[in-house]
Amino acid sequence: METTKKRVTVPEIGRMKADGERITMVTAYDWTFARLLDEAGVDMLLVGDSLGMVVQGHETTLPVTLDEMVYHTRMVARGAKRAMVVGDLPFGSYQSSPERAVENAIRLVKDGGAHCVKLEGGLAMAETIERIASVDIPVIGHVGLTPQSVHRIGGHRVQGRRHGSTPGGRERVIEDARAVEAAGAFAVVLECIPLDLAAEITGALSIPTIGIGAGVHCDGQVLVLHDLVGLNDAWTPRFAKRYAELGREVIRAAQAYVGEVKTGVFPTDAHAFAPQVAKAS
Ligand code: KIV
Repeated sequence: METTKKRVTVPEIGRMKADGERITMVTAYDWTFARLLDEAGVDMLLVGDSLGMVVQGHETTLPVTLDEMVYHTRMVARGAKRAMVVGDLPFGSYQSSPERAVENAIRLVKDGGAHCVKLEGGLAMAETIERIASVDIPVIGHVGLTPQSVHRIGGHRVQGRRHGSTPGGRERVIEDARAVEAAGAFAVVLECIPLDLAAEITGALSIPTIGIGAGVHCDGQVLVLHDLVGLNDAWTPRFAKRYAELGREVIRAAQAYVGEVKTGVFPTDAHAFAPQVAKAS
């Protein structure tokens, strides 16, 4: 029997921080996995632009388009009955002007079915976050390592390891997180920063921090689905944990299938339809 589960809402996410209940977020890109992750009790499903790398096979997230994000968000929204669906604004869809950002955030909500949006950047994106939040679209910020800045950073590198107020500096990451909160975001992703810095930010902000490669002191954690279930190559980022080996299992199953088809073991009569004998009239 299917039970009706109460949807995770923005106030509920705030309550979790207040009560010290850890928030869970996992990326999802389609209906199949959205249903499974929802069933597992994941609080938030992030339709991340990481799909550019783990689904589309690009080297960075930069080529992902808004139309593609809307397409994937729709699939996830159809599968998520309880989890909050977070639509990620891809590179080029929000940086050029706050107006454009608002229009594209509206698309993710209206056409994609997202309950909120996420965008990368701190201080520089404060006005944009404010404008999106002002039309009642809840916003999640994202500071520390921002993969859309890969070319400025020079790779996917840990941020906040050196002191300084220039991008990548410890004080700058703090300033970015504070700016995101002040602009009206209801949560912020902290990506690839030292755990003591994440602890300091988590203590300083009243909105929840959701960490990836940011240690245990964040209010919640997010992992990329393919890392969590072992759907990528054997390599896993240092900060991720593989809880299953689905990639290996898919190869094993497909090899068994290939073997059985080649040798005539599959299909058997049990997998076939018996000839219909039509009655003579
Ligand atoms: O796109 C994504 O999957 C993300 C997570 C890594 C937080 O932004």
